Amino acid sequence: MREAATDAPKTIAALSAEARRTLEDAGVDAAAGDVRVLLAAALDRPAASLIGAGAETVSGGGAWRFRGLIARRAAREPVSRILGRREFWSLDFAIDRGVLDPRADSECLVEAALQHAADRPAPLRVADLGVGSGCLLLSVLHERARALGVGVDRAEASACTARRNAAALGLADRALIVVGDWTEALGGPFDLLLANPPYIPSAAVPALAPEVRGWDPIGALDGGADGLDAYRAILPAARRLLAPGGAAILELGAGQWSAVADLAVAAGLRPTRCVRDAAGIARCLVAETAP
Ligand SMILES: C[S@@+](CC[C@H](N)C(=O)[O-])C[C@H]1O[C@@H](n2cnc3c(N)ncnc32)[C@H](O)[C@@H]1O
Repeated sequence: MREAATDAPKTIAALSAEARRTLEDAGVDAAAGDVRVLLAAALDRPAASLIGAGAETVSGGGAWRFRGLIARRAAREPVSRILGRREFWSLDFAIDRGVLDPRADSECLVEAALQHAADRPAPLRVADLGVGSGCLLLSVLHERARALGVGVDRAEASACTARRNAAALGLADRALIVVGDWTEALGGPFDLLLANPPYIPSAAVPALAPEVRGWDPIGALDGGADGLDAYRAILPAARRLLAPGGAAILELGAGQWSAVADLAVAAGLRPTRCVRDAAGIARCLVAETAP
């Protein structure tokens, strides 16, 4: 941290103010929120318990741990990576260096999946292509008690993390996680194909925020020259894998809607829904088979 660290006990207010300045100097947005979460983690107490506690003193170990966490955040490590956890769909997911840090925007795929399957009486069969931490597949399985799912990822580290999350959420008996290349190992039929594939055009990767380019695996980000490589690989196989009335539910990068909708049509699917994220960007495409 910027000010010289001393062993003298400091108040929560003083430590927080120092930390906030350190993060702001490092270019971290919304530093105050990060300070609160990291202080709570360092002191092993709920963040809510810090409200109104500014005059309390923090001694030795707590302050030392807090400074360590703030140094990591100042180096632009995301808070979720420092804590090793990310909340998604109100569920707790472990994350590590091998997986994409799940984004809140991706929750719109879970919503679209549940809506598409709302009236289906039989157990849902779900595939998640590029399963990462398992956030999409496991959220859907959590909401549909009889649903069964397969998650595929090319990265073995992701498959391991997804399996660990499935076990922690009590879903391991309904989620098979395999290592493979997109749809190659799958036979189907599935009612839902979910995918949040890498979709950043290669040339745009170096300009991503440090929290993204420095910490998310490149294989989870880089979608090839125009960002569309994964859709070209996945969509032609989708029709073979989907049951009648099934749907592919795909996350999109900004500005990719029409190109991916065209690929879906070329693959014999009907784009039926566009779901926008909180920023108004067309973030999710639903493409259905004929009923
Ligand atoms: C953007 S991340 C999405 C992770 C997770 N589904 C989520 O929404 O947080 C894309 C995932 O696709 C995986 N992936 C990339 N290429 C793949 C391929 N050819 N076959 C299978 N998975 C692949 C990456 O390893 C990564 O885990």
